[in-house]
Amino acid sequence: MTKKFYITTPIYYVNSVPHIGHAYTTIAQDVLARYKRQKGFDVRFLTGTDEHGANIEKSAAAAGVTPKQWTDDVAAKYKELWKTLNISYDDFIRTTDAKHEHVVQAIFEKLLKSGDIYLGSYSGKYCLSCEQYYNDSEILEGGLCPVHKRPLSEVHEETYFFKLSRYEKPLLKYYEEHPEFLSPKIRASEIVNFVKSGLQDLSVTRTKVAWGIPVPSNPQHTIYVWFDALINYISAAGLGTLLCEDKAEHEAQLKQIKADKFEDLWPADLHMVGKEIFRFHTVIWPAVLMALGLPLPKKVFAHGWWTVEGEKMSKSLGNIIDPAKVAAQYGVDPLRAFLFREVPFGQDGDFSMESFKNRYNSDLANNIGNLLSRTLNMAAKNMGELPETIEGDYKLLAKSADVEGAIDKAYDELAFDKVLENIYGFASDLNKLVDEKKPWELTKTDPEAAKAVLLELAACLRKVAVWLEPFMPTVAKEMQKRLLPGKIEKYPPLFPRLEADKK
Ligand code: MSP
Repeated sequence: MTKKFYITTPIYYVNSVPHIGHAYTTIAQDVLARYKRQKGFDVRFLTGTDEHGANIEKSAAAAGVTPKQWTDDVAAKYKELWKTLNISYDDFIRTTDAKHEHVVQAIFEKLLKSGDIYLGSYSGKYCLSCEQYYNDSEILEGGLCPVHKRPLSEVHEETYFFKLSRYEKPLLKYYEEHPEFLSPKIRASEIVNFVKSGLQDLSVTRTKVAWGIPVPSNPQHTIYVWFDALINYISAAGLGTLLCEDKAEHEAQLKQIKADKFEDLWPADLHMVGKEIFRFHTVIWPAVLMALGLPLPKKVFAHGWWTVEGEKMSKSLGNIIDPAKVAAQYGVDPLRAFLFREVPFGQDGDFSMESFKNRYNSDLANNIGNLLSRTLNMAAKNMGELPETIEGDYKLLAKSADVEGAIDKAYDELAFDKVLENIYGFASDLNKLVDEKKPWELTKTDPEAAKAVLLELAACLRKVAVWLEPFMPTVAKEMQKRLLPGKIEKYPPLFPRLEADKK
């Protein structure tokens, strides 16, 4: 039986349009999905949109449309971008899907019965952008939100609480027994300390937000967006077939994602998130799952944030990078590769078109592209065609097995930067071999030796073309095509060099 591998991205808010930050997380999971498929895993890759809450209600009102029209429109924009960026997701969930809403409601009522959710009231400082209350120790001077640096709203309301406090010890025990769960390791202590400092019960409904899922037994209340959103990971995996009365549509959903039952997919192997929502995924989410008696995801990985030329991306600064625009100008694949070569995965990074162009020229045009052209040109002259396999004692071809081992190890650590470093490093070794052996001269003095060099280069390049596929699916396929056994054709450069901007 093939091994399943269930991975997710955050579901993105639809109050504004997607940018390079959202693309980053999604491409990361796409790279991983493609790599795991290469290795024979039965991958289920879930993404989607988070469509309820006051912010979305407001965005729709400002645009003069209904929340439904607004969310349909932005969800479609996300899908369009994922198509442009060649994202091979298997399922796209929207929190306004009926099949999701049913599961959220069923979970709510189940936890109400078990005593994990109870009715109370709440007064506190609330940030509308974070959709979250803050306690005094977290609030900045002047009553500002620690994330948005904007004034918080004083809110008093009747609300249902989730008994998060009940899960302090079980969570700490889980972290200790599953050191992989909080990844990367450098982010673990913050979460452990947060939980150790004591957990307060979490308000999980609002009476003032109309655009949300109603509590079935008390419909004046709508369910808190985060409680609603986190559940997407199990509603998309078919939990409805276990919980909901109307099973038909949940079964249809399972067929769509090619599973017979919920247990085929759950628990997830990896939730990939940005660092700012790590806590939601590693404290609230596992506690909800514990309350439901469900297994916990194997790993939550928090990556860093992109700034743009040193600044936070924001509408007001007008510096939001639209990945579709960069891709239209320079190609989807170079963008996909750049994001992971530029910054060690897990750390923050800074995006600039200048470093994009520099890396494009050095990694792609001068290294990979040049290697492919010179190899094929020389081989065309020397042999005319490429064989299926080569035999003999070839040093770099032997080394490729070590490189592949290093690549696999880097993927295990989600060190996408190291994967690319290994691939590009190996291509540099191949370029060095060409410079040293000078096959174009060798061909005059020792044609057999020249041929051996060219055969080794072609065989190694075939490996490179397979390794590159998760990052650059289209370009890698083109490389593979050019390196097929048989007559060598003439081709244009794979990565035409970019000229420096004229000052
Ligand atoms: N809807 C919630 C997530 C719910 S998951 C159950 C949300 N949505 S969001 O639209 O704000 O998306 C946040 C995610 O987008 C981050 O966690 C990260 O994955 C990605 N990024 C958004 N801006 C980013 C950067 N500037 N840099 C890197 N990634 C960032 O939070």
